[in-house]
Amino acid sequence: MKSLDRYAVFGHPIKHTKSPRIHRIFAEQTGQDLEYTAQEVTVEQFQAAVARFFAEGGKGLNCTLPLKELAWAFADHKTERAQLSKAVNTLALQADGSILGDNTDGHGLVTDLTSNHSITLSDTRILILGAGGAARGIIAPILQQAPQALLIANRTINKAVTLAAEFHGKGSISGCGFEALANRQFDLILNATSASLSGQLPLLPSGLLAAGGNCYDLAYGNEPTAFVRWGWQNHAKNSLDGLGMLVEQAAEAFFIWRGVRPKTQAVIELLNSERQV
Ligand code: ATR
Repeated sequence: MKSLDRYAVFGHPIKHTKSPRIHRIFAEQTGQDLEYTAQEVTVEQFQAAVARFFAEGGKGLNCTLPLKELAWAFADHKTERAQLSKAVNTLALQADGSILGDNTDGHGLVTDLTSNHSITLSDTRILILGAGGAARGIIAPILQQAPQALLIANRTINKAVTLAAEFHGKGSISGCGFEALANRQFDLILNATSASLSGQLPLLPSGLLAAGGNCYDLAYGNEPTAFVRWGWQNHAKNSLDGLGMLVEQAAEAFFIWRGVRPKTQAVIELLNSERQV
């Protein structure tokens, strides 16, 4: 009997991951026979654990915090979006035995914004708060949507300026500190700082969000994040968290592995309903 194709998510911590559940629903929905598990893997264990997973016949891996940069280094070759983001969340075994690295996070974000919430990015003013790994992963897919301008604001100013410079020539992009946000206005504000999870927010000037503008926190939790609440207080048309992005990045990984695109809406609704009880 042929054994099931094996997939997994590696991360640390991994206890609360929703990925196995999401991928099992996708597999059932599309009639794909596969197994998807979660494994606690630290930075120190990463190299040996990934090598062993593929040596034992594994077909594909998701890598989450803090392993995305290591996965980027591990991949034999990478998609352009992964190359630019310097982080890989999806490893896929290829027919020739090599390992392809991709980053589906930015695609997940853009799909959630544009397809699920009908938020247009082209010709709009977009602000990203934060200049770490989460911010880096979403820049190229956002620039592909041709915004009027993309500004990265960060507590450590030179990280924002340096990050923006890396994408020079790929669109209108610049970096600054939070102080420079006074008297500026944006149609979409994305929170890519890690502050929101601990209930913290950078001090943001009032009037930063244009009338009819939207807010999106890349993080998500059972409760609304500090930034989602900031969006409500600042009259955002939509103030969303990253649950939809999570499901959409998983769908794109599933497509890379299986060549079939799962439907995401019902999965997003299911996960949403569970945290509202
Ligand atoms: P991630 O991979 O989640 O992006 P990271 O690479 O450590 O994590 O980056 C965290 C980001 O959140 C950084 O932009 C960080 O700002 P600094 O570069 O100045 O450190 C930002 N951040 C974390 N805590 C913050 C806070 N309390 N206020 C503002 N920004 C914060």
